Amino acid sequence: MCFCDSRPLRLLSVLLVGIALTGANCPSECNCLEHEVSCQSKNLKNFPQSLPFHIRYLDISRNQIKYLPLIELSYLTDLVYLNCSYNIIEKISRLPFLNVVKLISLDLSHNHLTTISQMTFQTLKSLTMLCSGVGLESTVF
Ligand SMILES: *[C@@H]1O[C@H](CO)[C@@H](O)[C@H](O)[C@H]1NC(C)=O
Repeated sequence: MCFCDSRPLRLLSVLLVGIALTGANCPSECNCLEHEVSCQSKNLKNFPQSLPFHIRYLDISRNQIKYLPLIELSYLTDLVYLNCSYNIIEKISRLPFLNVVKLISLDLSHNHLTTISQMTFQTLKSLTMLCSGVGLESTVF
């Protein structure tokens, strides 16, 4: 009889899956520290891809990001702080923050926004600080 011990292999695959789920998804152009990700001043043209899902703090300020993607943002359900200031965001889709319900601070200042639909912030029940850089007069309600 041959007893094949598959335990080391199983352990290895558990480790690999663990790494894939946690450590591997810090975008190379960002600095990740537990629940905080900073991608400030990295010449990013797009919203960083494959961010860790559990992050609470995201700083993508001072880049050349044009828009906030609904799909990528909708995974970041624990996000509390989001700084998008000093980018070239022109438009925000209607519900980019649909799942980002815990957001407290959102900085959209110093972008190329001219109007923001009220719908955009409707789901943000915890929001206490909003810098939009867009005056109320030009906000579309
Ligand atoms: C967002 O980042 C900019 C600099 O990149 C900073 O000046 C600003 O205070 C930050 N906003 C918030 C709300 O922390």
